[in-house]
Amino acid sequence: MKVCVVGHGGREHALAHVLRRSCDVVVTPGNAGIPGSTPAPAAEIDADLYVIGPEAPLVAGLADELRAAGGLVFGPGADGARLEGSKAWMKELLAAAGVPTAAHGSFREPEEALGFLGAMNDLFVIKTDGLAAGKGVLVTEDRAEAAAAVRTYLSGEAFGAAGRRVVIEEGLTGPELSVLAVCDGRRAVPLAPARDFKRLGEGDVGPNTGGMGAYSPVPTAGADVVDEVMDRAVLPTLAELARRGIDYRGVLYAGLMLTPAGLKVLEYNVRFGDPEAQVVLPRLRSDLAGLLAGAAAGSLTESPVYADDAAVTVVCASEGYPASSRTGDVIAGVEAAGAVEGVTVFCAGVAAADAGRWGALPAGRSGRALATAGGRVLTITGVGPDLAAARERAYAGVAHIEWPGRYVRFDIAAEAVESVSPRESP
Ligand code: AMP
Ligand code: GLY
Repeated sequence: MKVCVVGHGGREHALAHVLRRSCDVVVTPGNAGIPGSTPAPAAEIDADLYVIGPEAPLVAGLADELRAAGGLVFGPGADGARLEGSKAWMKELLAAAGVPTAAHGSFREPEEALGFLGAMNDLFVIKTDGLAAGKGVLVTEDRAEAAAAVRTYLSGEAFGAAGRRVVIEEGLTGPELSVLAVCDGRRAVPLAPARDFKRLGEGDVGPNTGGMGAYSPVPTAGADVVDEVMDRAVLPTLAELARRGIDYRGVLYAGLMLTPAGLKVLEYNVRFGDPEAQVVLPRLRSDLAGLLAGAAAGSLTESPVYADDAAVTVVCASEGYPASSRTGDVIAGVEAAGAVEGVTVFCAGVAAADAGRWGALPAGRSGRALATAGGRVLTITGVGPDLAAARERAYAGVAHIEWPGRYVRFDIAAEAVESVSPRESP
């Protein structure tokens, strides 16, 4: 089977890497670090299956376009992708489906939004209605900061058109969990749960990012929790989509908070998570291509089978991320990191380094020298028999990676490792 993966980040590298176990894979546009990358657009690539990675082309209707041309496509059409493309629409759909979520209001006018904010207390959550690469969410206890965000979002200053409508939510507390389900329009099967780390700083402080690391499995999320997520969130959502005539074939990614009052959906994404894909997919033992092709055809019959192992991934970001990102620095150590047992380097914001500009260059795994070209540059995944081993391997890989201003969180999966194997007290 020939598979065309659409996208150019670490998630698409992980998809291509795992799909390649059983298929020929091309990635469009990919990047200088992903084997099989091609600049040809998906519509010009003849493939048996198209897998669309990022939300933007899904929201823009790429899946519809490829399906109209007769392609077998894993990824929802523009109608279903609205779940991620408009948080206000998503909240309305959740209410109709009876799915538990944070109380909220959605606003286009500053006066109304500020009035709503004035009646809230404690923890304020402000979100752009539209897509903002995971950066459009502010969670703060500071009312003045929340009010300022409402103003800059609505004016278009902070996030352009995506922020001209805002969703203001009650602040919830509790551990977070990502459950990604593969859907065929009517049925859904969950992948292994993952936890990601959205805040920039260690100890979960600082601005929200696209994600700074992730791990899977999640010790506190056993089969009972996953069953509850499916019964209370994913399946009612899929049924409500179907009731509205939306044939949702792709990943439904539920971002959840396990609050004292039970689980609540914080967000839906319409694609694999990045970097969740980099921990969930490498652990898969059954055939990924068969699973995705079955869902794309509307005939999901298989359930994914997982190895009894664990994976931890750590993002190496460039200086200034997420506000800005310094680019053009040569990356050293990719080959050495990939040679560590159990480690795979997934390339995200990279470009081929220009030898004329930098002189002698270190070679990456593909034999090409790489330079930074974005905010999240690499994700280093370690797989091992348990979370502690996976974590150790991931950071052993990270230790080889160098460029000026490289930024890494060093506490990814630390608490989870402690919780499953508490250190003996001194
Ligand atoms: P989202 O993109 O909607 O998942 O939001 C990004 C992050 O903001 C989440 O992973 C949470 O850490 C945080 N967050 C979102 N909504 C809420 C909420 N209602 N209460 C507390 N934290 C939230
Ligand atoms: N890691 C969060 C996301 O993919 O949206």
